Amino acid sequence: MNIIAFSNQKGGTGKTTICVNLAAGLVKLKERVLIIDLDPQGNSTVSVGINLKFDDLTVREFILGEVRIEDVMVDSYIGDLSILPSNPDLAHLELELSNKSKNQFYLKKAIENSLDVLNSFDYIFIDCPPSLSLLTVNGLCASKYVIIPVLADFLSLQGLTNLLETIDMIKKKLNPELEILGIIPNMLDYRLKITEESLSLLREKFKDKVFKNVIKVCSRLRESPSYGKTIFDYAKNSQGAIDFINLAKEIKRRLK
Ligand SMILES: Nc1ncnc2c1ncn2[C@@H]1O[C@H](COP(=O)(O)OP(=O)(O)OP(=O)(O)O)[C@@H](O)[C@H]1O
Ligand SMILES: [Mg+2]
Repeated sequence: MNIIAFSNQKGGTGKTTICVNLAAGLVKLKERVLIIDLDPQGNSTVSVGINLKFDDLTVREFILGEVRIEDVMVDSYIGDLSILPSNPDLAHLELELSNKSKNQFYLKKAIENSLDVLNSFDYIFIDCPPSLSLLTVNGLCASKYVIIPVLADFLSLQGLTNLLETIDMIKKKLNPELEILGIIPNMLDYRLKITEESLSLLREKFKDKVFKNVIKVCSRLRESPSYGKTIFDYAKNSQGAIDFINLAKEIKRRLK
């Protein structure tokens, strides 16, 4: 079982899009995947077609150890893709945990207590919020790997340096196991000069840590969440679908 966090404190770099569509790509390659939606925005929950009712249980109760994983876990419309859903209630968790000791390890503990169920999955994907909040720290402390989606522009590359420092600090102080599985350039638009420039800068600086398969800009990817469908069901012949199946194969190779 591989636990992978999708993280970048910068908003809108594609954490959710990549988490959801890469998960669906791996399911196409016969893997079982669980997504943990660790973002109060609940974007990955909605992206796989789940609309929670007001009083439905969420990942919040799971993290607090108040319920069993089976009570929270929902099967998505795709067999072999399940999710621990979230909604804006999750935002309260930060406060609820704030005065507890070892509050960085609540998700890790909840996962360890549910291994009998979780061991049946090949991958656990954690979709982190756009911040370096306690929720994100919980995500990074519970993971073996982190995948970092970045955009190919100047400000995104600048933000990347801060993120790498934070990950380094978490590795030193809280989770020595944590490894960067890779950096995924997203929303690439090759008509722009900055795209090639940023990509070569990234590859020069981070070498093999940058995935070979990148995700190009694709309007179908932007549309699919509003239909609650992954790219393979919304637009199976699109550039996005091709990019994500290639990326899924690369991830499998990296983890062999
Ligand atoms: N390759 C792509 N081509 C076109 N649109 C994309 C692509 N990747 C992501 N998007 C769109 O960009 C927006 C931001 O993506 P997404 O929500 O995945 O980022 P995020 O990092 O999860 O954001 P947040 O930080 O708010 O959690 C969304 O509208 C998404 O549909
Ligand atoms: Mg997101």
